[in-house]
Formats: sequence, structure tokens, C-alpha cells
Amino acid sequence: MKGYFEKKVAVVTGAASGIGLGLTEEMLSRGAKAVFMADINQENLDKESKRLNEAYAGEAVPMLTDVTKLEHVEKLINSANNFDGHLDFVFNNAGIGMTIPTEFVTFDIWKKVVDINLMGVIYGTYCAIPIMRKQKSGHIVNTASAAGLLPIPYQALYASTKSAVKNMTESLYYELSNEGLRFSVVCPGNVRTAIFGDLTPPPDSVSVEEAVNYIFEKMEKGDVIIAFPQNIRDFDELYRMSPKEFDRLALGIADERRENYRTKGTYY
Ligand SMILES: NC(=O)c1ccc[n+]([C@@H]2O[C@H](COP(=O)([O-])OP(=O)(O)OC[C@H]3O[C@@H](n4cnc5c(N)ncnc54)[C@H](O)[C@@H]3O)[C@@H](O)[C@H]2O)c1
Repeated sequence: MKGYFEKKVAVVTGAASGIGLGLTEEMLSRGAKAVFMADINQENLDKESKRLNEAYAGEAVPMLTDVTKLEHVEKLINSANNFDGHLDFVFNNAGIGMTIPTEFVTFDIWKKVVDINLMGVIYGTYCAIPIMRKQKSGHIVNTASAAGLLPIPYQALYASTKSAVKNMTESLYYELSNEGLRFSVVCPGNVRTAIFGDLTPPPDSVSVEEAVNYIFEKMEKGDVIIAFPQNIRDFDELYRMSPKEFDRLALGIADERRENYRTKGTYY
């Protein structure tokens, strides 16, 4: 689709690092007019927006935003819409990882992950929808995870937020596509970003560049579920087509992770 990203105004949350930073840069490299970069990390926001503003014609606008605060997200979405009178893309991408044995989970941890990974996406989505309905266009792209597609052991908490994001996004697609709105939900496997903290990213992980190229290719085609890399699409097929085989595989992963927690204190 010619010019799908050109001269457009976008919002990206979690834009100071990893996938969000990659999405921001890709929007600008494809000719976006402005990308509002939202994050809680002021230092990275300043550094990365300065770099992007020097490299591209479009504007990278840093906005310190905590996605768990509705008033922050409202301000973010309205500022982007007021920039040039339209709001074309909202990437609700900010999130934190959480792979954890059940005995270590507290309700405070539950609340934190739900607030960032789910409520943050809900705020961004529901603040953008009225604007996009009025203009009869716009594309909302929510970042879920492979854990939103498949039940993965030791990720009950993370999966509960990501599967909600996945199903919410799909439901909205069916409800609002007749009004010209587009919805996509990104379901990545492992992508090499700061989300792994001190751990070396797993051997099957892909680069941010590979992830972002795939996301943009599928977004332009209007795909709703954007799952990658190939091993995640294979697991998803196994889950849907051969449930017994998937069951054995997932129980095997649980055994492996249990042993890794026992011997190394981490899941891989
Ligand atoms: N990297 C992976 O392997 C992977 C796999 C599946 C899904 N994801 C999802 O991709 C998204 C991006 O993760 P990433 O891998 O790029 O991680 P990352 O840690 O590199 O980037 C996440 C960004 O989100 C920001 N953030 C955290 N809490 C925030 C808040 N309350 N408000 C605003 N910003 C906040 C962080 O400051 C950081 O800049 C997340 O939703 C994550 O769950 C990542």
C-alpha cells in the first residue's frame, strides 16, 4: 500500500528501548511526520529522540509517560492528535516481562504487571478509538506475546495480561473494522532486548530489526495477529491442531524450567 506510513502521526509507548524504539525508528524511516515517543525512562527518551531527530525528517517527540496512569495516556494521545489534526497509528507496546514460579508471586507483583501490560494497553486503545472513529481511519497495534497465543509454564501472570491483550484486540477488529479502523496484535517469541535483564537472550531469539521488519510487512497487509518467528507459528499450529502433542511438549517445558530454577535459579 503506497504511502501507508508516509506523513502519518504515530504514538509508540515503551519507545525508549527495544521493540518500541525499533517501531519508532521504522515509522520515521518510512516517512512519518511525527512519532510521539512515550516512556518512563527520561534519560533514554532524551538520548534516542535526539538521535532520531538528527537522522530523519519527521519529528521524534519525547513524552515522559507512565502508561499505568490514565491522565498521562490521555495527554499523550491528545498531544499526538493535536500535532497535525490526525492520529494514524497507536502502538501500545510498553510492557515488562514476568517468568516466575508461583511460590514467588505476590499480589503486588500481579497488580504491577496487570497495570503496565494490560491497563496500559487498555488506556492507549480506548483513548485513541474515539479520535479514530471520528476520522474513520487509524491503526492500533498492541504488543502481546507468544504467551498471549499459547499457555506457557511459569508465565501464568504474564500470559494472563498478554492473552487479554490479544483477545481484546481481535474483538475490537471484528467490531470496528467496518468503520475504517485497523487493529493488529503483535505476538513475538524471543526478541533480543533489555527485557532479558542480565540474562543472555535465548538462542532462538531474533533481533529488533528482524522483528520490526516483519511487523511492518504484516501491518501494511492488514494482518490482525502478527506472530513470529517461525517456531512460534509452529507451536501455535501444534496447540490448535494437535492438542495432545502440545500438552506433552508444554509439560516437558515445565519439567525443564523446574529443573533450571532448582539448579540455576532461572528458567533457562
Ligand atoms: N523481547 C521479547 O522477547 C518480547 C517477547 C514477547 C513480547 N514482548 C513485549 O514487547 C514489548 C516491548 O518489550 P521489549 O522487549 O522491547 O522490552 P524493553 O525492556 O527493551 O522495552 C520496554 C520499554 O517499556 C518501558 N516501560 C516500562 N514500564 C513502563 C510504563 N509504566 N510506562 C511507560 N513505559 C514503560 C521501559 O522503560 C522500556 O523502555 C513488551 O510489551 C513485552 O512484553 C517482548
